[in-house]
Amino acid sequence: MMTTNVDSVKRITVIGSGTMGLGIAQVAAMGGFNCVLYDIAEEAVARAMQRIDKNLDKGVSLGKVERGAAEAALSRLATSTDLEDALRDSDFMIEAVPEKLDLKRSIFARADEIMKPEAILATNTSGLSITDIGASTGRPDRVIGMHFFNPVHIMKLVEIVRSKATSDETFRLTEAVSHRMGKETVEVNESAGFVTSRVNALIGNEAFRMWEAGVASPEDIDKALKLGLNHPMGPFELVDLVGLDVRAASLGNLHEHLGETYKPCQIILDLVAAGRLGRKVGHGVYRYDDEGRRIPGSSSLPA
Ligand SMILES: NC(=O)c1ccc[n+]([C@@H]2O[C@H](COP(=O)([O-])OP(=O)(O)OC[C@H]3O[C@@H](n4cnc5c(N)ncnc54)[C@H](O)[C@@H]3O)[C@@H](O)[C@H]2O)c1
Repeated sequence: MMTTNVDSVKRITVIGSGTMGLGIAQVAAMGGFNCVLYDIAEEAVARAMQRIDKNLDKGVSLGKVERGAAEAALSRLATSTDLEDALRDSDFMIEAVPEKLDLKRSIFARADEIMKPEAILATNTSGLSITDIGASTGRPDRVIGMHFFNPVHIMKLVEIVRSKATSDETFRLTEAVSHRMGKETVEVNESAGFVTSRVNALIGNEAFRMWEAGVASPEDIDKALKLGLNHPMGPFELVDLVGLDVRAASLGNLHEHLGETYKPCQIILDLVAAGRLGRKVGHGVYRYDDEGRRIPGSSSLPA
């Protein structure tokens, strides 16, 4: 029988070292796990390690992280561009590659071949079916969703998403791993968009529709939701952080499963086509300077 003791998880491998993967690796290492961060290109993992370094430095300078704890976390982190090496000795995988079902299924199929039989395979998908991803493996009972939030080292929640096949043991161990990473958890049964993406995509899409209809500017819509509804961020600030490509893909999936309400507003698709993907490229709904600061009054419709 599979153990649900979190001490059995010695090593976690994170697949994909982008926005989410690097944050997940950081909190895993801070939680005391040995962690391998894998990506297809050397530059990607090198960039991710620089970001983790910077995040931890900032945590130390703000007094939120002890210097010793930051150094210990860094010593527990390794990088790899060799999938087999990265997965062979790990007890737990967390996948954070782009939101494409075929890509995720192919990674899970490979991980299933490489990893020990008792290892758990988790995905950070924002809304794809965990059951579909799990079906690409011979261990669908050990496949689960761990939906982290951006920025991972700051946001408290992990939505733990059970597929139709996820076992109770897998759920409990994943919950314990998340808690050791310093996170709060909620249990969600698989459904398109889970809880948070479903509500968030609806608000975000409606904000774009209001912009398109000339109801108000992005700056004023953001201000209205923050000061009138007490949202910590406006929907345009948030979509720039999440990535417009990520949001467009999530809306496409929700549209397919939940109907017309979720049809992506044309402006989002036009911004993605123009390469305006958000903060990560310095330009989304708003423009950002070289330091990553938003330039006031910089929202503009796609050409
Ligand atoms: N950005 C968010 O706010 C957010 C929040 C929650 C969940 N997610 C989900 O997390 C996942 C990753 O999103 P992200 O924003 O970090 O994306 P990202 O584009 O920032 O990073 C993806 C990384 O995956 C790498 N990659 C591509 N193909 C790969 C492969 N075959 N093997 C290994 N690595 C590969 C890329 O090089 C890149 O470094 C997506 O499923 C997304 O829906 C994103």
